[in-house]
Amino acid sequence: MSYKGTIERYKKFLPVDDKTPIVSLLEGDTPLLPSARIGKELGIDLYFKLEGLNPTGSFKDRGMSLTISKAVEVESPMVMCASTGNTSASAAAFSARAGIACTVLIPKGRIAMGKLAQALVHGCKILAVEGTFDEALDVAKALTDKHSITLVNSINPYRLEGQKTGAFEICDRLGEAPDYLVIPVGNAGNITAYWMGFKQYKQVSITSKLPKMIGFQAEGAAPLVCGHPVEDPQTIASAIRIGRPARGDEALAAAKESAGFIDMVCDDEIIEAYKKVARDEGYFCEPASAAAVAGLIKKVKSSEIKKGSVVVCILTGHGLKDPDTAIKVTDEMVTIKPDLSEAEKVLFD
Ligand code: F0G
Repeated sequence: MSYKGTIERYKKFLPVDDKTPIVSLLEGDTPLLPSARIGKELGIDLYFKLEGLNPTGSFKDRGMSLTISKAVEVESPMVMCASTGNTSASAAAFSARAGIACTVLIPKGRIAMGKLAQALVHGCKILAVEGTFDEALDVAKALTDKHSITLVNSINPYRLEGQKTGAFEICDRLGEAPDYLVIPVGNAGNITAYWMGFKQYKQVSITSKLPKMIGFQAEGAAPLVCGHPVEDPQTIASAIRIGRPARGDEALAAAKESAGFIDMVCDDEIIEAYKKVARDEGYFCEPASAAAVAGLIKKVKSSEIKKGSVVVCILTGHGLKDPDTAIKVTDEMVTIKPDLSEAEKVLFD
């Protein structure tokens, strides 16, 4: 049996030909986990797409496989991205795989520890920018405009082409598109990519319907909800701490065209959902992913998402990416001496 990554599985829907060198870590084909409890509580048929089970622990690997393959195809001397952490981890890993130079720009002190560790260990060049993600992206854009370096942020169209394979997998698994696709929104590439994927599959009649696209931003970083850029975005969900989303217009168009919407959730709601997914479902996602779950719960309760519908929620990144947040928002550890009776006292008294 041969294993296949996203490009090999969906070649005919992607901008590749036989000359494209395939750089893959066998990303994609992630589980569509039926909900054990949250779906029943809400009265919906709920599935979680476990994108944290990609090789570098986030959905970014889908787009990065194609983007790095295309960079190698045109013999680009270096790739570059700005990142809140996951894109840089993925770019670093796929560049290492391809044997191509990679530089990442990260907002200094503002990315999760696991993601920083990934970029470091893969050996790319890291520029810690004293500023926000948006400012780091401005620098990356200026550098790649001026020098012969390939920008691998989701401004690069290949990123979206690769990421749309998530939508294909959902339709392949369910037999058609769900009623609702619920997804966190940061730089707004992923919601745009999923919408492209669903539309493409409808065009070739693999699905007969299209989902309503429902996106969630964090309250302190919700430019698409507020209708204006946010200069100093704030949220515990560092992955989506973005004030000027590069694909904002496309994301708003996807929500509108699909009769969906983009709304926001606050940090308390994010953390509540983050723990709920871990405790009621047994899956550990990162805070940004939990923003989608928090929003979903709210919108079913307000009847903006209808009971009885089929809903897929994209859990975009793995919880182990951000151990600091996990430890910060939980304090349920009891310290004891190595002693039976002390342990019994804590457990049974
Ligand atoms: N969830 C996670 C875990 C992310 O890392 C990101 C984005 C998103 C959701 C939002 O996706 O940007 O396509 O709307 N992370 C980017 C990064 C910005 O640099 O890793 P989006």
